[in-house]
Amino acid sequence: MIKERELENLTKTIMEIYGWDFRDYAISSLRRRIQRLLDLKKIPSVDDLVEMIKADEWIKQELLDQITVNTTEMFREPEAWVKLRRKVLPELQKKTEKISIWHAGCSSGEEVFSMAILLKELGYYESSEIHAADIDQTIINSALEGQYAMSKMELNTKNYYAAEGQEELLKYYVKKGNNATMDRSLLENVQFEIFDLVKDEPRSKYHLVLCRNVLIYFNQNLQTQVLQKLYDSLFPGGYLCIGTKESLMWVEASHRFKTIDQSNKIYQKPL
Ligand SMILES: C[S@@+](CC[C@H](N)C(=O)[O-])C[C@H]1O[C@@H](n2cnc3c(N)ncnc32)[C@H](O)[C@@H]1O
Repeated sequence: MIKERELENLTKTIMEIYGWDFRDYAISSLRRRIQRLLDLKKIPSVDDLVEMIKADEWIKQELLDQITVNTTEMFREPEAWVKLRRKVLPELQKKTEKISIWHAGCSSGEEVFSMAILLKELGYYESSEIHAADIDQTIINSALEGQYAMSKMELNTKNYYAAEGQEELLKYYVKKGNNATMDRSLLENVQFEIFDLVKDEPRSKYHLVLCRNVLIYFNQNLQTQVLQKLYDSLFPGGYLCIGTKESLMWVEASHRFKTIDQSNKIYQKPL
């Protein structure tokens, strides 16, 4: 098993050379992901990996791909989307002229397209702006491309209906060979940006922040720091939505939020 000392040395080197700070990522998943990279690339040890990072650039993207988990789906955990559809977005629409939404950790964009579809169906798209951010430029590029394997569309469609989708999901993409290409108009009000939740400060204030299935990869210390950042990024009365398997229970800054829906992990910054 990879030793803690080796991981410390590795994360320190990554930080010095690439500027990404993974020192407070959850250790068990970090250890697993690094081991996978060693096995995949047949790199004998963590110390060899450290030497490669110092000597060569090619490993940079491989490393980011392995350490950050990009798994995602459209309308993932659909019940939470029902809550956004029925309660959160209509309330925001009543209170503000332009709803500002931030996807922190947007991965390949399925969550962003889901939000755009939801806003269109509610009739709020034109009065909304969506910011979508991730640490990884390559994954942002695939979000911008908006092409997904047809094999994934079955689950996406199932989630869409469970999220009370009002049309057929097919209305929002065209099938080309084995891929689904999302309708470009869904991205008209979307801006993508590279953003590192560990070290960057939010550039704006938002009415709704989705940071779903991201905190789970951080240790308690980093979760606390990032949660404070998300809190600061919200307007008073703004909502935060995290993944349903995530918990704020052990995170210090959590008491600042009011719980709106415990099972769907929707919280509100008090007015
Ligand atoms: C598992 S995906 C979650 C995607 C989507 N939010 C969802 O729930 O389906 C986690 C994403 O967080 C991103 N991520 C990891 N560390 C990050 C950081 N420090 N700053 C910003 N994004 C980060 C990863 O690149 C990845 O795309």
